[in-house]
Amino acid sequence: MRPHVADVMLTTLRSFTLAGFAAGVLLCPAAAALAQPGPSLAPAGWDETIKLREAVDKNPDPNIVEIDLEARLAEVEVAPGKVVKAWTYDGGLPGPLIRTKVGDRLIVHFTNNLDEETTIHWHGVRVPIEMDGVPGISQPPVKKGETFTYDFTTPDASLYWYHPHVMSAAQVGFGLYGALLVEDPADGVGVTDQLTLVLSDIGFDKRGELEPADSGGPAGMVFGREGAYVLVNGRTHPTLKARAGAPQRWRIVNAAKSRFFLLDMDGQPFTTIGGDGGIQEESVTSGTVLVTTGERLDVLVAPTGAPGSKLVLRAMLYNRGYGSVQYRDVEEILTIEFSNEPPVKKVPLPTVRRTITPTSAEGATHVPVVLTLPPQGKDGVSEFRVNGVPYWEAKPFLASLGEKQIWVINNDTDWDHPFHLHGYFFMQLDEKDQPVKPLAWKDTLNIPMKTTMRFLVHFDERPGEWMFHCHILDHAEGGLMGTVLVGPGSPTTSHHVHPRKP
Ligand code: C2O
Ligand code: CU
Repeated sequence: MRPHVADVMLTTLRSFTLAGFAAGVLLCPAAAALAQPGPSLAPAGWDETIKLREAVDKNPDPNIVEIDLEARLAEVEVAPGKVVKAWTYDGGLPGPLIRTKVGDRLIVHFTNNLDEETTIHWHGVRVPIEMDGVPGISQPPVKKGETFTYDFTTPDASLYWYHPHVMSAAQVGFGLYGALLVEDPADGVGVTDQLTLVLSDIGFDKRGELEPADSGGPAGMVFGREGAYVLVNGRTHPTLKARAGAPQRWRIVNAAKSRFFLLDMDGQPFTTIGGDGGIQEESVTSGTVLVTTGERLDVLVAPTGAPGSKLVLRAMLYNRGYGSVQYRDVEEILTIEFSNEPPVKKVPLPTVRRTITPTSAEGATHVPVVLTLPPQGKDGVSEFRVNGVPYWEAKPFLASLGEKQIWVINNDTDWDHPFHLHGYFFMQLDEKDQPVKPLAWKDTLNIPMKTTMRFLVHFDERPGEWMFHCHILDHAEGGLMGTVLVGPGSPTTSHHVHPRKP
């Protein structure tokens, strides 16, 4: 496999050196210099109540991570006295954090102890098709009591996540998801205090019974169902301790099945250094950041306030379609509690850059993708369609191995759709087919309502039938899903997208 990152150089620039912060670093084009992370600046036990459990690697080989993972029902306390009978990996919510290094082999001995079939999909990881976790395409579903071994390498550094691909709106909504962090020991970001944050939500009643996956009927499907309990690493509104002004690196994944998170920290800045496919070309600083379903974000923050005070991380209202802002309130997500230590003297955050060579769009085939939601039929049925058909009537898109394609996705509906492609990273393009700056690798791109967006993908390896779908999983189940068959052979132009009238 030829990693996309072979041509990538990661560099860290520092404005100046600060004792107690990381040592200064100079970039060197021939070999990425390392920013040695300095000592922690966070108060003792700062992340105790929020930190993810980690999977236990039982393989002594330093380049192999080998774990057991079990899907089963478990009672989980998401807030004091609030217990839900959730579907879990290893009995917790979310599943354990799996950590590997770039290039490591990951072996997961998976056992399904649920009453239903399931699989695991490794969202964003460039796995071989046999490891992609799509039932009927990459593997048979794992039945109750059965096991399946996932075995693949993790070629690119980033935060990924894992979740089922069987009845995914139900199974993810019921609690089946976890984070996979693939680290590059040479990434040189140099911020010591790091957290992986899995954002999600879950719905359940007073007895702890899960809200049914079909609640609200067709309208629920069209809105995209959100659970009433918003979770950060499986807890409602946890607390994080921090020293005011001290930098932290947050790796965030939105594992909710429908909910978007527009994060705000009282307007304090977020510096986004990367996303789905690792570090991006240049960092971007903003007052809020949006994480749509399935997406990941790599941000540096240095929350500040008076010693002993508190700062709340909130999810602001974001209009992703009817039902997402009407009669809705801002949600409190997480409280940051400042220690009594004096604030860290204000220092610039490290400047993080990565040289990314964009795929050339030359010779790329344009592939039109039109997303529609026809008016509800007499039978009361609503279905999302891709090029005129819901997924159960769709034929695969076609691509030759080695082909480059520009997918032009026209969202003609009144809802946003975070569009996810399995197996490949892509690069977002503007209307003139130029890469959007700063360059970044993505696997999930939100297509806002009534908007057209495009991306360039190079089907350079790993032939197979790869899924794409909206990562509002209710939308996916409601029709907004399909596959692209990447076949061997030289590129041809005699193919494509077979729009069919239902
Ligand atoms: Cu998170 Cu089909 O994917
Ligand atoms: Cu959607």
